[in-house]
Amino acid sequence: MADGSTSPIGSTGAIGSTGPTGSTSAIGSTGSSVLELSGVSKTYPGPPPVHALTDVRLTVRTGELAAIVGPSGSGKSTLLSVLGLLDTPTAGRYLLQGTDTTSLGERERTALRAATLGFVFQAFHLVPHLTCVQNVALALVHLGVPRARRRPQAVEALEAVGLGHRLDARPGTLSGGEKQRVAVARAIVHRPAVVLCDEPTGNLDTANSARVMDLLQGLVDVDRAVVVVTHDLDVAARADRVFKVVDGRVS
Ligand SMILES: Nc1ncnc2c1ncn2[C@@H]1O[C@H](COP(=O)(O)OP(=O)(O)OP(=O)(O)O)[C@@H](O)[C@H]1O
Ligand SMILES: [Mg+2]
Repeated sequence: MADGSTSPIGSTGAIGSTGPTGSTSAIGSTGSSVLELSGVSKTYPGPPPVHALTDVRLTVRTGELAAIVGPSGSGKSTLLSVLGLLDTPTAGRYLLQGTDTTSLGERERTALRAATLGFVFQAFHLVPHLTCVQNVALALVHLGVPRARRRPQAVEALEAVGLGHRLDARPGTLSGGEKQRVAVARAIVHRPAVVLCDEPTGNLDTANSARVMDLLQGLVDVDRAVVVVTHDLDVAARADRVFKVVDGRVS
């Protein structure tokens, strides 16, 4: 079966009317800095307060597959939530494509998140009564993509993940690996600059994990980075850059 890994949707085409603009293309193999944290800390108020992240500095460039690894409770999901603008740091600075997100209001953060980021989670979070193409097209509603353009873009994304033959299937009729590929299509349909994944292979067997990782690796290009939180050493071994999180500190 084609897994689409040789024809992923790139981030440079015309798909997605409200996609990121102004990203500088990488020259050679080293891309531009797309995620940059400096002095970032996150304390959950509690009680008792939990210091989930402490003084984190990291940079991810376009053209990179980055892995975030570490023991349970070390702060990986918190770090991904901060990178995904789903949570705000209690201290420090976060630049996303050069924009200082720390000073943005909630509406601006939401707009930047929608235009710039795509998410893949361990649980696929597909809407059961919608078809694959409807699930993927749904992601375009919030971006204001006109109705007539949503289906063709969703079809293109599903074809890119090797699911062009299951467009009108409902998630309940798909295998776990196929469900995750629909979730990847949904994450990339608006051509985000960064795809953030939290344990994307956590519910998959070895063969399907490898296929999903092929797909995620194939999404990396001169205008895009992929970040994967993982416990899986095989997944981390594929990364261009590995961040180790221990007790909220990143090395
Ligand atoms: N909303 C919250 N309120 C309080 N503490 C929290 C909250 N979310 C996470 N924590 C705590 O912050 C720390 C880091 O949690 P986080 O979920 O980031 O870990 P993780 O590395 O993703 O773990 P796992 O591998 O088990 O998913 C943990 O001590 C956790 O209990
Ligand atoms: Mg976690």
